[in-house]
Amino acid sequence: MPQLWTEEPRLVVTYDVECAGRVDHDFYLALAAQLGATDVVDIGCGTGVFCTDLATRGFRATGVDPATAMVEAARRRPGAERVTWIHGTAADVPPALADLVVMSGHVAQYFVTDEEWTATLAQCRTMLRPGGHLAFESRDPRAREWERWTPDDTRRTYPHPDGGTFESWVEVVDVSGPGDAPIETHQGHTVLPSGEHLVSTETLRFRSAPEIVGTLAGAGLDLVEMWGDWRRSPVSDATGELIVVAGRPASQSPG
Ligand SMILES: C[S@@+](CC[C@H](N)C(=O)[O-])C[C@H]1O[C@@H](n2cnc3c(N)ncnc32)[C@H](O)[C@@H]1O
Repeated sequence: MPQLWTEEPRLVVTYDVECAGRVDHDFYLALAAQLGATDVVDIGCGTGVFCTDLATRGFRATGVDPATAMVEAARRRPGAERVTWIHGTAADVPPALADLVVMSGHVAQYFVTDEEWTATLAQCRTMLRPGGHLAFESRDPRAREWERWTPDDTRRTYPHPDGGTFESWVEVVDVSGPGDAPIETHQGHTVLPSGEHLVSTETLRFRSAPEIVGTLAGAGLDLVEMWGDWRRSPVSDATGELIVVAGRPASQSPG
């Protein structure tokens, strides 16, 4: 099987079950309304839940993802015909398409190298109209969440949409890089109702708040807000998330 779970259709199905009832999508839907957005681009849209929710509420939504199995699942979702889907990355989005760009589900952490991250921020700026916003979240490395990603702490059993149950858990296999911006690799384990055991590998970058602020500035984006949780609490060493809203300055400038 492929090493990336996002390219394995059977793990795309179980991902949707594991992600049911997420507060982050409600947060970003409320933010889109608060900002008066009309055209929203979702980078790393996954199975398309957020985009179809946006379209149902009257936003023009574009979902972008490089994983074939993810985009195929998104295109099958009820309401998918109201969304524009791009099988690709931020580099494939037309300029000035959006007044809000969102990366939910910790997509920002999938850009592991500095080069990938700074290129993606620059591409987000390009797809934003002047005065538009970029919103995303990244786990605060100070919370060291990966230390709780053990098989014992993460093992869960869920109903499978095709009948029976599946079990999943996570196990960290490597943490490297600087202490304030570690690169973490874990294996995801899923045991399907048939008993088949699928293993995938994923690497995430944990960027600190100062690093995020610095890279936004480098991309020509102004920090507007940074919250520590989905209730919009201030960031502290106890909150765990870095939830960011940045803006493309309203005055016209090249790029
Ligand atoms: C944890 S999933 C989140 C999916 C969705 N945003 C959500 O909230 O459920 C991470 C997604 O990021 C996508 N992704 C990985 N690398 C990417 C890249 N370079 N550009 C855009 N998306 C990427 C993956 O294919 C996957 O769909």
